Amino acid sequence: MSNYHIKHLEEYYQVYRKSVRNPEVFWEEVAEEHFVWRKRWNNVLQWDFSKPEIKWFEGAQLNITENCIDRHLNTRGDKTAIIFEPNNPDEETQHISYRELHDRVCRFANVLKEKGIGKGDRVCIYLPMIPELAISVLACARIGAIHSVVFAGFSSTALATRINDSECKMVITSDGSYRGAKTIDLKSIVDEALEDCSSIESVLVAKRINSNIKMKEGRDYWLQPLLDEAYHDCDPVVMDAEDPLFILYTSGSTGKPKGMVHSSGGYMVYTAYTFKNVFQYREDDVYWCTADIGWITGHSYIVYGPLLNGATTLMFEGVPSYPDFGRFWEIVDKHQVNQFYTAPTAIRALAKEGMDHVEKYDLSSLKVLGTVGEPINEEAWHWYDDNIGKKKAPIVDTWWQTETGGIMISPIPFATPTKPTYATLPFIGIQPALMDENGEEIKGNQVDGRLCIKYPWPSMARTIWGDHQRYKDTYFSAFENMYFTGDGALRDEVGYYRITGRVDDVVIVSGHNLGTAPIEDAINEHPAVSESAIVGFPHDIKGNALYGYVILKETGESRNHDNLRKEINQLITEQIGPIAKLDKIQFTKGLPKTRSGKIMRRILRKIASKDTSNLGDTSTLLNPEVVQDIMDNVL
Ligand code: PRX
Repeated sequence: MSNYHIKHLEEYYQVYRKSVRNPEVFWEEVAEEHFVWRKRWNNVLQWDFSKPEIKWFEGAQLNITENCIDRHLNTRGDKTAIIFEPNNPDEETQHISYRELHDRVCRFANVLKEKGIGKGDRVCIYLPMIPELAISVLACARIGAIHSVVFAGFSSTALATRINDSECKMVITSDGSYRGAKTIDLKSIVDEALEDCSSIESVLVAKRINSNIKMKEGRDYWLQPLLDEAYHDCDPVVMDAEDPLFILYTSGSTGKPKGMVHSSGGYMVYTAYTFKNVFQYREDDVYWCTADIGWITGHSYIVYGPLLNGATTLMFEGVPSYPDFGRFWEIVDKHQVNQFYTAPTAIRALAKEGMDHVEKYDLSSLKVLGTVGEPINEEAWHWYDDNIGKKKAPIVDTWWQTETGGIMISPIPFATPTKPTYATLPFIGIQPALMDENGEEIKGNQVDGRLCIKYPWPSMARTIWGDHQRYKDTYFSAFENMYFTGDGALRDEVGYYRITGRVDDVVIVSGHNLGTAPIEDAINEHPAVSESAIVGFPHDIKGNALYGYVILKETGESRNHDNLRKEINQLITEQIGPIAKLDKIQFTKGLPKTRSGKIMRRILRKIASKDTSNLGDTSTLLNPEVVQDIMDNVL
């Protein structure tokens, strides 16, 4: 247990130095001490960022569910693995013990097998935050099927794109979902998506809202009757460390979403190790991450990381505002939550509602608070620290990405002194670098640049499903021999990192990663639109919101602009999902372009942010006159 739980700053530096001086020895020790392997590795690490090829624990064999569930049965069989807190506070909470989880995962895995799913097959999971979501993820992992969870807020078009990209054989969904006071008809979204998905052979449907849905004969099956009949035990399929565990799609700045492929062995080692240290989890703690399992945060820090540590992890089906804005704090009080992990967007939204909702509840159980997904502003950080943690629960501002699989830069609570808006120090084993525009590393402190990582870590994505070249182009081509994150960062006088935001055309809205190009593609399908450009602009609650500049065709000019705005947002909702809707849409005659025809988004970003004092030299543009016109009509 020597280097598993870091307790003070000096120890952090010691372990950190060891981890970067000889990463292979370090990770080998962690892997040896804390996991069940069916076969030991031949090599700890083989890597070449120029290909890129990264292999951790090659030759080793394991099954991650054996590590998440089976090995806890002797010591923690009756311990609660998952607390399920339903959308409606009047509905009963469920406590699923490790023993029950084992039973449910095994039965689910047997249902998958019976429906023809085997090792390497892709299974799309499109479910709300109900226990079946975590259980189906683990059931796939049990039999070596590759899960591809699609966030259940995505539209049918977005779902179809993801199903087709990885040629999934099955979809697991539900008859519907609850979201606050609303119900959502998930099954009909799936039905619509499947009109264009020839690879799907079967659909399993969990019952959640008891709605009257259509079931397609020979394709759709109610889940429960199959589970009722399934055998209670299912041997874990032995996986190679480098076999894919899952695919998770993330937006790119251009083109279709990227199916990031994560490995079985390295992902296991890193998510378990980061979970334990970043949240300082102790045996009887109750841990709650408010993310959705549809995102990487939920994969790594609701399901895998906590269960690998034998933790109690809480899953919440609902939203922070239902039945009122005190819901998060009510849940913390009810379950005496010890570690609470959420997004800055949620903190800002709740802070705005005032202290009445907070003061009603006992939050004294909280030991560690976390944030993730976007930069946290100073005001929100202090509100969280003062009112939720009462200045006693350190805030871990964790920076990482879908691609990184686990937390990369973060304080270690009670060890790293925190600093508002700073993710602080690299996690153990992580070697960040700041790069300048000429591809040189910027050494020293009090500098800023593009954030890269110099050396592999166990949970990094290994490729993009079906497109290794794109993996190389996106992450390993901007800077030689480096993984490029797409973020900018600064390093302060003591070496703390602060993430300053994306340096590409990805905008983080409410903590969600949105590529602008796919949204533009959606808008351009509107018959009245000739061209468009999307940029982000600062927003009090969401961090960033989207601003669209749209050029209309002649036929569109005579139309009512408010109606057009509604239609454009409707199109975006259909093609991507409501999270990608635009806050503001400005109709314009032109877009500022370079002489080679490239839209100058930098200028558009400044105008949308009402920061026009320093637009730079616009005289070299193809059409400098449009800049003034856009400024005069800014919304
Ligand atoms: O820009 C960074 C931002 O979110 C991006 C990754 O988004 P995604 O792959 O959806 O994963 C989000 C959850 C891990 C990053 O490139 N980001 C994430 N965490 C932080 C952050 N920006 C600032 N501070 C953070 N703590």
